[in-house]
Amino acid sequence: MFTVIRADQLKFNPRAQMSRIFAEGFSQWLGYFSKDNEAIARAFAHMFVLNQFYVAITDEGTIAAMAACTDGTVSSVKLNSTELRKHLGLLKGTVAGFVLKKEFEATKAAKDDADAVYGSIEFVGTAPECRGQGAASAIVRHMLDYAPFEQFFIEEVADTNTPAMNLYHKLGFQEYKRKSLPAKRAAKIGINHIVSLKYVK
Ligand SMILES: CC(C)(COP(=O)(O)OP(=O)(O)OC[C@H]1O[C@@H](n2cnc3c(N)ncnc32)[C@H](O)[C@@H]1OP(=O)(O)O)[C@@H](O)C(=O)NCCC(=O)NCCS
Repeated sequence: MFTVIRADQLKFNPRAQMSRIFAEGFSQWLGYFSKDNEAIARAFAHMFVLNQFYVAITDEGTIAAMAACTDGTVSSVKLNSTELRKHLGLLKGTVAGFVLKKEFEATKAAKDDADAVYGSIEFVGTAPECRGQGAASAIVRHMLDYAPFEQFFIEEVADTNTPAMNLYHKLGFQEYKRKSLPAKRAAKIGINHIVSLKYVK
């Protein structure tokens, strides 16, 4: 039903569709920058490092879902401050360039065993109209089957993100770390714990 392909091997430019999925999927974290998902999508379309992403393509040829898989030493996105300022304005664009660059481009290397080779799965998202049809499962399974790693990590999943937690558990990921948020912040954003998950072949 879905064809999984690396985003840099597509015959069209996938950035606009990927960015729409990103804006819809991660809007709760991006509200400060704009409440308009279309504006968010335009601002972040430049950032995807396409050879680190896989996408699930529908029979109609559109992108249903996306996810990145890196070796933990490179970043799957690269933020350009000029682009961000162009779309979000001087203040918010500058803040996005500073704060999100640190957050998004942080690589996950050097876990317990610095020499271990593992995959870091990031930016998993499905277009709202394609959710619940197996698109994210198809991509993550593809990574587990074909990426040259024995272990895979997914960092920083909100414990209240039931679709994501169910998805990862269903695919065989297990929680290995849990960070509690301060009670006041937890109540404000509706998340109690930030969970890290691991899959071992
Ligand atoms: C999480 C997300 C990627 C799931 O994508 P999806 O393509 O709908 O997932 P799938 O159709 O492959 O579903 C696989 C499993 O996930 C779980 N799941 C998916 N959607 C769910 C929902 N709304 N409620 C509960 N469980 C759900 C189920 O266990 C499902 O298996 P099932 O269909 O046999 O019940 C999607 O909801 C999304 O884009 N959310 C916003 C972005 C996000 O939170 N990303 C994860 C960041 S860590």
